[in-house]
Order: sequence, then C-alpha cells, then structure tokens
Amino acid sequence: MEIESSYIEIIKKRQSKRKFINKDLDADQIKKINTIIQNYTIGPFGNKVEFKLIEKKIAKENHKVKLGTYGFISGARYFIVGQVKNRANANEDYGFLLENIILQLTAMDLGTCWLGGTFSRADISEILSTDSEMIIPAITPVGIPTDSYSIKESIIRWGAKSDSRKDWGEIFFTDSFNKSFLKKDAGIYKEALEMLRLAPSASNKQPWRILKSEDAFHFYLKRTQGYNKMGKGTDLQKLDIGIAMSHFELACKELKLKGEWTNMNPEITSPEIDEYCVTWKI
Ligand SMILES: Cc1cc2nc3c(=O)[nH]c(=O)nc-3n(C[C@H](O)[C@H](O)[C@H](O)COP(=O)(O)O)c2cc1C
Repeated sequence: MEIESSYIEIIKKRQSKRKFINKDLDADQIKKINTIIQNYTIGPFGNKVEFKLIEKKIAKENHKVKLGTYGFISGARYFIVGQVKNRANANEDYGFLLENIILQLTAMDLGTCWLGGTFSRADISEILSTDSEMIIPAITPVGIPTDSYSIKESIIRWGAKSDSRKDWGEIFFTDSFNKSFLKKDAGIYKEALEMLRLAPSASNKQPWRILKSEDAFHFYLKRTQGYNKMGKGTDLQKLDIGIAMSHFELACKELKLKGEWTNMNPEITSPEIDEYCVTWKI
C-alpha cells in the first residue's frame, strides 16, 4: 500500500506509545484505519489474518469486557485485534501484517504499541468469538499519543532498554555465523538492514539473526531462553521475525532492491542459532 511519506522515515519515527489522549478518533480517521486493515490479510507464508478495529466503549456495552491491559496502556479507546488459524508460520505472518498496519498508522501520526503479553486474551476472544482453531497472537491500541512519556511508560522503556538496538556485529553475518556482516561492507543493503535493526521486538530481545550469502539474506531465530510462555500457538519471537521481514521488505522496495521471500535453507548452523526461518532471495 502506498503512503505519502517514505517507509524509511516512518520506520525511524515509530516508537511504542502507551499513553493516549482520552478522546474519540474522528470518522475520517476510523474510515482510513478500516481501509488499511482490509489491505493486509494474507502474509508472505500464505496465512490469512482477520484484523478488526474495536472500540473499548462498545466492547464493554456489547460483550461486557473491559479490554484489560494490566495497567500498561492508558487513555486508549480503540484497539486493533486479530486472529489467525494456529498453523505453521501463523505468527510470522501475523507479525508481518500487523507491523505493516502499524507503520501505516504511524504515517497518520497515530500511536500504537505491540501487546503480546500485557492484555486479556480472554476479552478479545469473547469479542471475536474465537474458536479453538484460532489464536490471537497480539493486539495494539491505536489513538492520539500524548506528547511525552508518562513516568510508568519511561520505566517500561528503561526496563526493556527500548531505545537501544544490538550492534550490527551481533545480528548480521556473512557466509557463516563466525563472520559478522558490518555496516561498512553492506553497500546498497546498508539502509535496508539498518531498518530491520530498528524493528520493535517483544521485550526488545531482537531475536533475529541474518546471514548474507552471495545472492540471499537468510533469516534465523536465536531464542531467548525461558521466554515466550504464552501457550496455545502464540510465539512472540516468531512474531518478531515477521516484523523484521516487514521492515526489510518495505525498505528494499523503497530502495528499488529486488527480491522475494522463499524457503532456501542453506543448512549453515551454529550452536548459537536455534532455527532457520526464511530467505530473501535477491
Ligand atoms: C511481539 C511484541 C510483543 C510485545 N508485547 C508487549 C507487551 O505485552 N507490553 C508492552 O508494554 N510492550 C510490548 N511490546 C513492545 C516492546 O517492548 C517494544 O517494541 C520494544 O521495547 C522496543 O521499543 P519501541 O517499540 O519503542 O522501539 C511488544 C513488542 C513486540 C514486537
């Protein structure tokens, strides 16, 4: 989907927002959000996701639910929620699509925050009438953010070290996982990889590892030990992989760097790496 400004600028601008001005969005904004949501339904792995914009007030009236966020989000009157069949790569597709939506909302100057842990899944499940085949990997509030962070928000950001990202040498490799792929050697891919590096991730763990070969970028996952106890199909670090894929693809497209997603496992392993996920074939 086209946006007025550049995706690269939007990626640089996006930050999680947890405090919102407690007022309704106008009809035009709601219409635009619904149009955006309808544009993102099938992920790169082919899973179909149904997203929905819900209003807290209406959810309370009709479904008797509070849309609890355990005190992490304040002032938000709207949420984007979704569900996907619990199948292979459902989390990656969900992450990819919702991040595309989040970037579009950022371009509209709206605030968002990925919530994979701190929300009531039971409430959303009630609203969506979710059956046992489906999962709700994450949601986001959407609204006008306040100008500055609240004290609580600043503490959350400090706890997750949200303002920093891992160095290039820790996450990008070439030919093997013993050799880092450094910015100074990245040539035309410097900016696209930098945009991937800026991607949000659950607790800012940045579990993606990228291995560059001659004609491809292979995406791998390095799991955080003991993390991700969401149960029933939800895998926060696979959502992170989908988010990283969306940033890399959007930046490549904007920079006119051709490529496509494919399954092309180079069978290069390392004790440091948990699993191969997907390849961007140049
Ligand atoms: C998959 C995923 C799940 C997340 N879950 C939560 C959550 O449950 N609660 C929360 O306050 N933040 C959550 N976050 C936000 C991250 O903490 C945040 O993206 C990260 O610290 C980087 O900060 P930034 O988004 O401002 O760049 C989540 C982020 C992602 C990508």
